[in-house]
Amino acid sequence: MPDVSGVSTPHRVLPPNDPRQYDDLADEWWRPDGAFAMLHWLARARAAMVPPASTPDDLLVDLGCGAGLLAPHLAGKGYHHVGVDLTRSALDQAADHGVTVVQGDATAVPLTDGCAAVVSAGEVLEHVPDWRRAVAEACRLLRPGGLLVLDTLNDTLLARLIAVELGERLPTVPRGIHDPRLFVDASALVAECARHGVSLEVRGVRPEVGGTLAWLLRRMRGGGDRPGRTEPRMVPTRSAAVLYQGWGRRSG
Ligand SMILES: C[S@@+](CC[C@H](N)C(=O)[O-])C[C@H]1O[C@@H](n2cnc3c(N)ncnc32)[C@H](O)[C@@H]1O
Repeated sequence: MPDVSGVSTPHRVLPPNDPRQYDDLADEWWRPDGAFAMLHWLARARAAMVPPASTPDDLLVDLGCGAGLLAPHLAGKGYHHVGVDLTRSALDQAADHGVTVVQGDATAVPLTDGCAAVVSAGEVLEHVPDWRRAVAEACRLLRPGGLLVLDTLNDTLLARLIAVELGERLPTVPRGIHDPRLFVDASALVAECARHGVSLEVRGVRPEVGGTLAWLLRRMRGGGDRPGRTEPRMVPTRSAAVLYQGWGRRSG
């Protein structure tokens, strides 16, 4: 079991998964080589699962949208991008990137049933103490035939080792951002989605090895946030034991 007694941000000591960490790390969101770099790689992979909107009114509801990192990857797909998050400092940045923001909890979203053509839940379920409630909300928001896309961390020993013990020692993941007790068992997630009318498929993903090593080297050498740099891609893996994507449509 990892030590979950308390975690230092550059500003203060906070418990693991404390949402105030996102305020302390607010300047990191949009730095391509910053503490949230891997969220950019994941956002691109998540957006690739989203087809173009079918009507000009289609809403994409982005649960736990953070600073709106999904927004550039949705450009041209024709959605109204609505982001829901607890963290005001992140929402302000999301708004600057064209997202219509709603401050709220993913477990009690102040939006109407069936309003969304797409619900995205990227790297958020593993931060929500009642992830089942957030899944119920995601499914409630979807219109019949609507698409749920997500990525999260599996509730396995391997995920704790790789995402927390190793990942949080690398510059790809902020230290203490996760509480591994909240990680989401993939089979339980599939079952929960099915209970709410969404038939979810899952597959493991990981950052490509070569691109990630090049990225780490560049970062160690102070290559910095120069624009135009290619970032590592997320690629499918045979095992979903660590990080996995899910996608599925709501019946009805
Ligand atoms: C790891 S970040 C992911 C952000 C974004 N989805 C992305 O991939 O760039 C997790 C986000 O979830 C938000 N969050 C955590 N718990 C939440 C909750 N219960 N309801 C809404 N947002 C939440 C945090 O404020 C943070 O912005």
